[in-house]
Amino acid sequence: MYDKYRDHFLKMYEHATDNHRRTFPHHVMVVTKWAEKLCDLYPEADREVAVIASLFHDLGHFIDGDTDHAIKSEIAAKAFLEKEKMPAVKINKILHAVRAHRNKDVKPNTLEAKIVCFADSASHMAAEVYLNILADNSKADTLAKIERDYRDLSDFPEVKQELEPLYHAWKNIILSFPDDFIELLPK
Ligand SMILES: [Fe+2]
Ligand SMILES: [Fe+2]
Repeated sequence: MYDKYRDHFLKMYEHATDNHRRTFPHHVMVVTKWAEKLCDLYPEADREVAVIASLFHDLGHFIDGDTDHAIKSEIAAKAFLEKEKMPAVKINKILHAVRAHRNKDVKPNTLEAKIVCFADSASHMAAEVYLNILADNSKADTLAKIERDYRDLSDFPEVKQELEPLYHAWKNIILSFPDDFIELLPK
């Protein structure tokens, strides 16, 4: 059902740099799976909006320029969806979820945007992302990222509670990872 959108993401991904090839396309598939899970739990959510926004949320990483990747993702998603002649109301809902996925300067203010933001943070807990971050950053920075991700799970407290053991486990792994082996983590 979402093949067209998945194909568009994969086409954009062809422009990924080596650095991004370590993370993508896996990351987007994990985010999309989390979004589907949340839509199962909250059937009032518009699944189409949540899934398409998940597939498009990081497109900006594959577009040149120093602009925030969420802004570049929003522009790329808008161009694609308008060409598809999707109704404007739906396009706007998808664009908001894409733009707000970082929960920084633009906060998610719809159920679907909250789902995408949650899915992006939860995706890091169910992958090897923190080890990738540790490979390039300090333990303190990696732990700060875990804290930010955990904070961004707060819109869905019952699902957040299920992830609590994993959150503590990742913190323990990062804290106790032997310093002299960090340089051997895959770059
Ligand atoms: Fe992102
Ligand atoms: Fe992401």
